[in-house]
Amino acid sequence: MTRAICVAIIVLFTCQTSYSFKNYYWREYTGEIPKDAIVGGRDINDKNIYIGQAYVKNEGIMEVQITPGVRQVLVPMRGIKKIDKYVKILCGPQEKVYWMSSNPSSLHSDLIDKHAIIGGHEDGWGYTSIGRINREGEVKIGKLNTCVVNNPPFYFNDNGVERRFTPPCGANMKFFATLITIFFSLGPHTCPLEDYYWREYVGETPEDAIIAGKDINNKNVHIGQAYVHDAGLIVTQIFPGVKEVYVTYKGVRKIDKYVKILCGEQADFYWMQANHTNLHLELIDKHAVIGGHEDAYGYMNVGRISYGGEIRIGKVNSFWPEAAYFYFDNNGTEKRISSYQVLMYIDKSINIDVRFKH
Ligand SMILES: *[C@@H]1O[C@H](CO)[C@@H](O)[C@H](O)[C@H]1NC(C)=O
Ligand SMILES: *[C@@H]1O[C@H](CO)[C@@H](O)[C@H](O)[C@H]1NC(C)=O
Repeated sequence: MTRAICVAIIVLFTCQTSYSFKNYYWREYTGEIPKDAIVGGRDINDKNIYIGQAYVKNEGIMEVQITPGVRQVLVPMRGIKKIDKYVKILCGPQEKVYWMSSNPSSLHSDLIDKHAIIGGHEDGWGYTSIGRINREGEVKIGKLNTCVVNNPPFYFNDNGVERRFTPPCGANMKFFATLITIFFSLGPHTCPLEDYYWREYVGETPEDAIIAGKDINNKNVHIGQAYVHDAGLIVTQIFPGVKEVYVTYKGVRKIDKYVKILCGEQADFYWMQANHTNLHLELIDKHAVIGGHEDAYGYMNVGRISYGGEIRIGKVNSFWPEAAYFYFDNNGTEKRISSYQVLMYIDKSINIDVRFKH
């Protein structure tokens, strides 16, 4: 093969090195492309494709390609896995991200002083990045195992087949030193979506993190979503400046990586009183923030209570109608509460729809 194939990794400008995660975030993906979704390239029909991260049970969170209008994603993970829920889509200002061309042997030195977007992680390995290659006239988005030091592999879905890209030994790999910024116009398949998103959390609180209340020391507390192997993506409380979170799932688990923090416009959110039996009635015609999910059951919401003079954040197991309890970590013990507040958002798209209807 004479045509050079290059693995490219999305890397962010680090002008503001203090918190480079602020340049991107993830929204829940349910088949529609949000207006601020980052374009990952074009497919063979010259249509924009997008970047997703899919939750794969017992494996981690994997980078995937998102095709507009298609809810299902094909995840290269020990074969191709078809996944149609618990997928997020990468969003943010398009001009803040760019693709850097590299190849597996020089990747780690190329990444020095740059900030590759965290695309996901693989259990037992670590964080992974978003890669893409050009293949037969179209862009393929996939998973780049940056956590592997020696020749990090790149995996992608090639028409239903999992492929691992490794450059031919000593091949005339074309290496671009220039950094390419990608600008594409957004396709017509955009629509307003819920105004919240999740950023990677590593101990620093982004400016647009939603404030959920105050702790006993009058400090703001925030809402987290932690990846728990064997369990799902679980809502948890974030204490400012503290990397660790305590997640309730069959007891309390301490988690210190693969945590996201809920962000958005504070004014778009409100808390609604509910209890374990009336939650489902209360939610009719309203929008509760999706806080995560449990593998065996489904989506959960975000709850809070006032307890011991402070606000405590926890999960609302809304997947059980009539038994939608609130759970939180009480000093190392999982505690169940029946009356609580659930986090809601104001759906601005409802107002927009009204204008089109007559
Ligand atoms: C839940 O709230 C509703 C409405 O406030 C109330 O009628 C009901 O008794 C409550 N249920 C429980 C179990 O507290
Ligand atoms: C929390 O638990 C620890 C031991 O598990 C105990 O020493 C501490 O007093 C407890 N704190 C509160 C506020 O109950």
